[in-house]
Amino acid sequence: MMSKKLVCFMFSLVFAVVFAATGIYAGTEVADVFKMETKEYATRTKGLVEFTHKKHVEDYGIKCGDCHHDDKGKALDLKAGDNVQRCVECHKETEKAPKGEKLKKNEKIAKYHKEALHANCIDCHKDFNKEKGYKGKDPKAAPQSCASCHPKK
Ligand code: HEC
Ligand code: HEC
Ligand code: HEC
Ligand code: HEC
Repeated sequence: MMSKKLVCFMFSLVFAVVFAATGIYAGTEVADVFKMETKEYATRTKGLVEFTHKKHVEDYGIKCGDCHHDDKGKALDLKAGDNVQRCVECHKETEKAPKGEKLKKNEKIAKYHKEALHANCIDCHKDFNKEKGYKGKDPKAAPQSCASCHPKK
């Protein structure tokens, strides 16, 4: 027979573990699917893109670090529940580029939020479609055209 004391101790242990686990999750939860609506944009010209975060990780097998990196651009080694910074915290500019601004591609990406997101999302989709041989409007293709990501407003 287990002593009452031992049973009591085991119960509190279970509760402690459960609370610790949910505690870790609380601040860092990410929805399975969400609309990309970076609130820093003062004006918007396009419809909101729906992003299947969970599918990208679980079904498409993409590593966290292919999208989330540190302040040097180095891929982060993350696991579910870890905290990340929002893209706009580093790729800060949400205004349109002024006329005549001349930047190299990597400079544009570093500066403009839209350029960073497009480079991340669209470049991977292009590579994927090329590798699979998907052309144009193939329903299995990952979205590359403006309208296939941004619904009509
Ligand atoms: C295909 C790209 C991609 C992959 C893979 C990916 N994420 Fe994300 N994740 C994003 C984007 C984009 C956002 C939205 C960021 C923003 O709003 O600036 C995001 C948001 C998040 C957020 C919420 C951030 C917040 O403050 O709102 C967390 C937490 C997160 N991701 C963790 C992870 C972890 C952990 C993994 C791996 C298991 C992962 N992500 C894999 C692209 C990705
Ligand atoms: C902590 C700051 C920081 C955050 C947060 C951040 N980036 Fe970056 N990102 C950088 C830096 C620094 C570089 C490197 C710039 C260079 O090489 O000139 C970079 C480079 C990139 C590049 C070009 C290189 C590559 O990896 O293809 C893309 C695309 C990119 N970021 C997209 C994103 C996306 C999407 C998010 C959000 C999911 C994000 N970044 C969040 C700092 C950040
Ligand atoms: C490293 C590769 C990679 C990155 C980065 C990536 N995707 Fe994808 N995405 C895929 C693949 C692969 C598919 C299609 C898989 C298939 O159809 O079998 C896909 C499919 C999609 C689809 C259509 C199917 C669905 O799940 O809704 C949308 C929309 C999409 N991605 C949006 C985005 C957005 C927005 C971003 C950037 C925040 C992004 N993706 C970043 C690889 C990527
Ligand atoms: C793979 C999906 C994808 C494709 C394809 C795509 N975009 Fe985007 N675009 C995004 C994401 C994600 C954002 C960031 C939105 C946010 O975080 O609020 C964005 C932001 C923008 C913004 C800034 C916000 C706004 O509404 O003014 C513009 C402009 C834009 N995209 C135009 C385009 C154009 C033009 C094309 C075609 C050449 C295109 N996009 C193709 C995913 C995509």
